[in-house]
Amino acid sequence: MVGLPDKAVSEARERVRSAMIASGLALPARRITVNLAPADLPKEGSHYDLPIALGLMAAIGAISHDALNGYTVLGELGLDGSLAPIAGVLPAAIGANGRGEGLICPASCGPEAAWASPEMEIIAAGSLIQLANHFKGTQVLSRPQPKVREADGVMLDLVDIKGQESAKRALEIAAAGGHNLLMVGPPGAGKSMLAARLPSILPPLSPAELLEVSMIASVAGEIVGGALTNRRPFRAPHHSASMPALVGGGLRAKPGEISLSHNGVLFLDELPEFDARVLDSLRQPLEAGHVAISRANHRVTYPARFMLVAAMNPCRCGRATEPDFSCKRGANQRCAADYQSRLSAPLLDRIDLHIEVPAVTAADLILADPRRPRPRHPGRALRCTRTHGAYQCAGRKRGAGGDRQARCRRARAAARSLRGDAPFRAGLSPRLAGRPHSRGPRRRGCGAPRPPCRSPGLPGAHRRVTPGGIRVPVDTTTESLADLSR
Ligand SMILES: Nc1ncnc2c1ncn2[C@@H]1O[C@H](COP(=O)(O)OP(=O)(O)OP(=O)(O)O)[C@@H](O)[C@H]1O
Ligand SMILES: [Mg+2]
Repeated sequence: MVGLPDKAVSEARERVRSAMIASGLALPARRITVNLAPADLPKEGSHYDLPIALGLMAAIGAISHDALNGYTVLGELGLDGSLAPIAGVLPAAIGANGRGEGLICPASCGPEAAWASPEMEIIAAGSLIQLANHFKGTQVLSRPQPKVREADGVMLDLVDIKGQESAKRALEIAAAGGHNLLMVGPPGAGKSMLAARLPSILPPLSPAELLEVSMIASVAGEIVGGALTNRRPFRAPHHSASMPALVGGGLRAKPGEISLSHNGVLFLDELPEFDARVLDSLRQPLEAGHVAISRANHRVTYPARFMLVAAMNPCRCGRATEPDFSCKRGANQRCAADYQSRLSAPLLDRIDLHIEVPAVTAADLILADPRRPRPRHPGRALRCTRTHGAYQCAGRKRGAGGDRQARCRRARAAARSLRGDAPFRAGLSPRLAGRPHSRGPRRRGCGAPRPPCRSPGLPGAHRRVTPGGIRVPVDTTTESLADLSR
């Protein structure tokens, strides 16, 4: 095998030999040279297996010499002669169509290739034998049809968010205009929850956008079963992401998260926790809408026009914006300034909308869900929430060794604060209200043991479904988008 093959290409030797033997094709007992031209271009990947095997089959007369004329061929071989899926079939098909050629690829990639053009000739086979039979005319393979993937799972929608009207409005404006958005707020304010619901108010991809998005996903090997999806990408990498993972690169100059979220949303939760160098590497693609990855022997440019949505706490302790909070490490402002200085001014300058997401109020949090039946006993949800809050608070303090009566007093005071417009404070978080009660700490004293909560009015945001089990789309958000575009 000559022509700068990498390890995967060199190993094609073994796969091709075994696959041909398994398909009943004996290779001649002499030295065979496979030349991968042009000789000075490094070859990498397993997709050379099929062209090498078909070339050999033509050489030994298993298929006619001119059968492969006018075809681009790619695919990986199994030892049993079956064809395994590979990455990058869609761009290869679009390239072949541009040159006026047909495409030969594995059967599982056929639907993906079919998106390139309805007129293009595509042979998508499951095995070497099927291909040999197709060329002989004994079993002609039909052209694969383009497939769209059914949306997996229910889409989270904005109706789950209680209160936070300004944040929801900002989210709609950002979605309508494709603006970058930064949400700053205390823990449990609902920032991650808001971002996770953004896809539900984004418009579906146009056919041209769908092809662009799918080509990147195809190169990254993220297309499952050859079916494309018309949902806008929503990528939320963890803050430990490296620079190649975010902007692209690595050994094979693969697309990174910014390219995989092209025409969609890149959500960076806990923004200051990302490495500062990694964040600053976003500055150029945010401006240019593409990213160029240069290696010693080649250069790849991937599109990267995405909407950046970020969330962060105002400071390390998260509560610097609360008026009655004083940070143990110094003045609130200094704590906030230290934390926020992790973000460079040029990066922040590229984020159009900066919004403050204040702590959600208890009154908002216990609002009944408009899609759910009202609780049988009005006020039950409020009671449950309060009781839960009180127990959590008391449970936390138990380890500190305070006396029992004082703990109970603190717990009752905290529970009382949940009645009105008071935000969730005093060590209480809206997270507690969203959690199943069974997971909370158990305690004795302070009255009866925790009552089991059966209230449907609690904001169990992730568990909410309609009585039929189907999530209902929110008409109000679509209307708001229509309002905005008018
Ligand atoms: N406005 C709200 N409506 C309903 N539930 C809420 C709301 N805000 C918070 N919650 C509850 O609190 C939980 C935590 O919210 P979320 O993770 O979005 O907070 P966050 O602002 O991202 O906090 P952090 O800064 O700690 O990441 C949610 O899963 C939900 O149960
Ligand atoms: Mg969060």
